[in-house]
Amino acid sequence: MALVALASAKGSPGVTTASLVLGALWPRQVLLAECDPSGSDVAIRMTAPGGTPLNSDRGLVSLAAASRKGLGDEVILAHGQQLDGGLDVLLGVRSPEQVGGMGGLWHPLGLTFNQMQFGDVLADCGRISTTSPQLPIVYSARLIVLVCSATGSSVAHLRERLAALASQVDAQLGVVVVADPKQRDAVKQVWSVLDAMSVPVRHRWHLAFDPVGAAFFEGRGHGRLAKTQLIRSATDITAEMAALVASPQDLDMAEAAFPLGER
Ligand SMILES: Nc1ncnc2c1ncn2[C@@H]1O[C@H](COP(=O)(O)OP(=O)(O)OP(=O)(O)O)[C@@H](O)[C@H]1O
Ligand SMILES: [Mg+2]
Repeated sequence: MALVALASAKGSPGVTTASLVLGALWPRQVLLAECDPSGSDVAIRMTAPGGTPLNSDRGLVSLAAASRKGLGDEVILAHGQQLDGGLDVLLGVRSPEQVGGMGGLWHPLGLTFNQMQFGDVLADCGRISTTSPQLPIVYSARLIVLVCSATGSSVAHLRERLAALASQVDAQLGVVVVADPKQRDAVKQVWSVLDAMSVPVRHRWHLAFDPVGAAFFEGRGHGRLAKTQLIRSATDITAEMAALVASPQDLDMAEAAFPLGER
């Protein structure tokens, strides 16, 4: 199955929120891996089934210690846990100080994420620059999605990062702009900036800026999540992303479940 890396160029445009939303809606088995070296937000914001706290000692750091004997689905999943709602997660480091304990794991981990039998992996890689330790995860992905807001500075940094990535990888590149659903013109301006670049960024999505929906992914939502603008905007995005990275085997399984003639 495939690795999809989500990251930002600057600021906090909503990478973790987008990763959680995509994970919740993903049409196949998926693992959300927190690979942001600045520290886990999922452990703080979310809970395990029944509202109990997640175990912040189980995740990337415990995996790093265990991986000396080799990496594979079983080893990785043994350090994962489930969120309330059922999404499987591999929690990230608790603080940047723990990143040293990862040693040389980032590269083999990226390669393994991209070929887990278990399912796809969505990696929240946080903010990336040329010196980020988690870059090998980004470089191993089949699809790299940069998340940004529709402000001039966010887009300027996005351009720089896209150009740098395009010179390093062959992966498909995508952009998610987080913006108020009414701000269509601002989003169009982002697309025209991308059009003017020599780097082809074919995959472009507009995710709703929606504090009501986002609150659910900070553990303080009220009302019906499914009705929020965030989820409504994310539904098609998730389906498109999942289709982009689907293997022929995934497509065969979908065809067996819903024969084309019956759709
Ligand atoms: N689509 C959205 N609509 C409204 N608010 C959002 C959205 N996405 C994120 N937010 C809010 O913005 C803040 C930052 O979001 P988030 O932690 O997802 O960003 P990030 O890019 O992962 O940041 P960091 O780089 O610090 O990890 C949070 O308070 C979150 O609730
Ligand atoms: Mg984050």
